[in-house]
Amino acid sequence: MPMEQLTMPLVRTTEAAARGATDWIGRGEKEQGDGAAVEAMRQAMTAVPMAGEVVIGEGEKDEAPMLYNGEQVGNGEGPKVDIAVDPVEGTNFLAKGMPGSIVVLAAAPQGQMFRPGPGFYMDKLVVPPAAKGKLDPNAPLASKLGDLASALDKQVEDLRIFVLDKPRHQDMIQEVRAAGASVRLATDGDVSGGVMAALGESVDALMGVGGTPEGVITACAAKAVGGDMFGAMAPQKDDEEKQIREFGLEPGQVLTMNDLIKGDNVLFVATGLTSSDILDGVQDYGDLITTDTMVITGAHGTVQRIRTEKPVSS
Ligand code: FBP
Repeated sequence: MPMEQLTMPLVRTTEAAARGATDWIGRGEKEQGDGAAVEAMRQAMTAVPMAGEVVIGEGEKDEAPMLYNGEQVGNGEGPKVDIAVDPVEGTNFLAKGMPGSIVVLAAAPQGQMFRPGPGFYMDKLVVPPAAKGKLDPNAPLASKLGDLASALDKQVEDLRIFVLDKPRHQDMIQEVRAAGASVRLATDGDVSGGVMAALGESVDALMGVGGTPEGVITACAAKAVGGDMFGAMAPQKDDEEKQIREFGLEPGQVLTMNDLIKGDNVLFVATGLTSSDILDGVQDYGDLITTDTMVITGAHGTVQRIRTEKPVSS
């Protein structure tokens, strides 16, 4: 069954999560805000006509009471679906009342998503459709930028690369600038960066290490729009490398787009929580609350925006 048939029911879940977390914007309590989004999404999931399983969620059951890896979601009827979900992507932004937090999920037929196991961090490279198949993920950074520029019919000087502003990226940032390209930094939120890169909007690529769940979700969006992505497990935490190896994954080994998400039958849904580059935030008008959602479906590679108004009481 095409995942796009689940579009509206799944949009209702990200909308509900965004509305559920709005009271926590700017209150300095990221866990509480995340918890409110999770609770609202979990409730809304019960109405989705699918036999879903969260394969990438809030962690293992003992650490996350809800939307944990392995949790069954949906009403149990309909297609078997893998769900990757980040109920609040950009929890710092939410807590600080800053732009950039979104609610995001991806759906694909059972068994199609990469399972990162205990791997928290992934090195990512995301590029727009025009650069698909034109980059060697193992090439030195300067030649990757050269190849990207040629593929996009630009000069390297015209390229803008999205990079998370983290100490681990300082050398890479210097290298990108030394090659002549510019860098678009963000302290958090590499799903939005990845979506912009896959669409070729505002930036020409995303590079660098971010969360693994965010990586798989980004891969679904990139796949759906016909962009390209490479990933590689890039352990940052104590013991992470050992645990990844025990799980059977090799740090640094290149994962292609098809390794990250098989097939084109994917659905990516994101609702703005605070306003961001890709979405408006939830607006509370007292009696009315509005949400802005982006839907990308793999079958057609279409990007849709859905704006919903809802009376506050319902
Ligand atoms: P959450 O708000 O969901 O925790 O993620 C924010 C984020 O910036 C992601 O966009 C990114 O992939 C990851 O954290 C990077 O992790 P870290 O801040 O540990 O480097």
